[in-house]
Amino acid sequence: MTEQSPTRAADLEPVPGLRLYSLYFNPQQQAELRDAIRDVVRQAPLYTPVMPRSGRPFSVRMTNCGPLGWVADKAGYRYQPTHPETGEPWPAMPPQLTALWENVAGFGAPPEACLVNHYAESARMGLHVDEDEQDFDAPVVSVSLGDSCLFRYGGLARRDPTRSFRLHSGDVLVMGGPARLIHHGVDRIIKDTSTLLTQSGRINLTLRRVTKPGLNA
Ligand code: SIN
Ligand code: FE2
Repeated sequence: MTEQSPTRAADLEPVPGLRLYSLYFNPQQQAELRDAIRDVVRQAPLYTPVMPRSGRPFSVRMTNCGPLGWVADKAGYRYQPTHPETGEPWPAMPPQLTALWENVAGFGAPPEACLVNHYAESARMGLHVDEDEQDFDAPVVSVSLGDSCLFRYGGLARRDPTRSFRLHSGDVLVMGGPARLIHHGVDRIIKDTSTLLTQSGRINLTLRRVTKPGLNA
């Protein structure tokens, strides 16, 4: 992997365990990661998931890389080893992402899933908790590429007050420890804030440990 840029970690009060590394990936590294994700998308095309029961489409398109991928369809939310439309195994996780996990996750086992979210200009993601994993001891590590977004986070309870801040291309956000199960979402994409992607929009990558290490090895 190319040399790491210096990182600045800021604790986002008042939630311990929520850590922002502003510009973790420098512009050159962002371009390399973008190209690696283009290769992933070539093998495992973005698709539009739908909400369980209602069947309402997400505004975000998704794919995955790594041994497991997060999928949503009428039957529910789950992790599975294959793409729901092509039936093929997910492509391998780019090495920059496993290296990122080793640097920031503080967890002794590798990530198993990298969810790739593609936000067109008008896409958003409602407040939710990432809770489909068997292991909440591992954090969720998230990377932003392309246009900035307004990211919203709250507390463990849905009704807890929320705050928002901007995530920019190259930023890494870690939700771990007491912040592992907080509510979070994306209010909106802030257009024309990056030239990394050919079209306007944003890519978010979230790395997750799905199974408890040792159990399904
Ligand atoms: C997610 O919660 O899966 C995505 C968050 C983001 O796009 O920053
Ligand atoms: Fe999430």
